[in-house]
Amino acid sequence: MLPSLKSIGDVKGKKVLVRVDFNVPIKEGEVPAGSEWRLRAVVPTLDYLAQAGAKIIILAHLGRPRGHDLHYSLYPVFEKLKKLWLADLFFSHDVLGAAVERAINNLKNGGAVLLENLRFYKEEEANDETFAQSLSAYGDVFVNDAFAASHRAHASIVGLPKFLKSYAGFLLEKEIAVLSMVRAQPRRPLVLIMGGAKADTKLKLVKEFLDKSDGILLGGVLANTLLYARGLAVGKSMVDENLVSEARKMDIVSNHLHLPVDVAVSRSLNRPDGLNVRPIGRVGENEFIIDIGPDTMALFEKVIKSARMIIWNGSLGLTEVPAFKKGSLVVAKAVAESRGEKIIGGGDLISFLTEENLIDKMTYVSTGGGAMLEFLAGEELPGIIALENQS
Ligand code: 3PG
Repeated sequence: MLPSLKSIGDVKGKKVLVRVDFNVPIKEGEVPAGSEWRLRAVVPTLDYLAQAGAKIIILAHLGRPRGHDLHYSLYPVFEKLKKLWLADLFFSHDVLGAAVERAINNLKNGGAVLLENLRFYKEEEANDETFAQSLSAYGDVFVNDAFAASHRAHASIVGLPKFLKSYAGFLLEKEIAVLSMVRAQPRRPLVLIMGGAKADTKLKLVKEFLDKSDGILLGGVLANTLLYARGLAVGKSMVDENLVSEARKMDIVSNHLHLPVDVAVSRSLNRPDGLNVRPIGRVGENEFIIDIGPDTMALFEKVIKSARMIIWNGSLGLTEVPAFKKGSLVVAKAVAESRGEKIIGGGDLISFLTEENLIDKMTYVSTGGGAMLEFLAGEELPGIIALENQS
């Protein structure tokens, strides 16, 4: 059983560490409108603690920085959070050090401080015990409300429960409750759609979902990588080089696994320069795959129509460029029109569906991308195990 935030007891004047997932898109130094959903999702937990008079220390990450890189600063997230959560909120420009301790000691009851990106310290992803212990020293108790990062065995996710009494926040609890029901009673035919970046998280899931689903539709970096691993030309497209040999070994053949049969290509990733459709294998040396092609759209639409349940993470093209979003839009409309259950999740996809006014057509929107997929594939998430197994 997950220890619920409701059982945290009297936290008036106590320092509560709250891990959240604020990994949201940043454009021109701001969280763009429509991309603040992961912030809104944790407000119930933050409100509950603030109203109970706790001193709240918010821990989060952004992107995958290598060291202290201000392009990945959480400051824009702080500015956005300040607008939508009207609390006494401060920002700490570091994660460790005397200035952080001072900021925490200055908190009033009900006040909060957001610490800078935890991933500025490599110890976070390395799950370094000393780092977790240093973080734990800031608080009296820990709340994990970062469902979307709970598939990572990182210091702030699995290390903190070793040092502090720990609870599941309201968002984490809700995600686990809803997705447990989906996992226990999947509707068949079940169709899985996977696109976007982060092929590393998704590759193993293709295999895990093969027996559990009736159709798998692939786009994005994962599809590029699998095509490339099969020896097909992908030009300058984004491929996860580290996965190629694993993908070759997997060599999955299944008539319900669908890779694109044609793709849209461009010579530029930022604008439609030389926008063309190519059959698979005919991508030119100087071309990038930026979307699925029309035959693939028709194939994907057909498979989606047959589904009674759809699970979707990751858009199928580079949706940030309007000319490259056609495939994702066709698929999004087919999903929206499906009479089956539609479970979608993850960063860019939620922003995209929000922009296209299709988000309300989904049955359940999870804040988790990889976390949602791993959980639905039947894996135990390290962050959940850490909460359940604390002594
Ligand atoms: C996500 O956006 O899915 C989570 O924040 C995890 O991010 P990561 O894949 O960089 O660990």
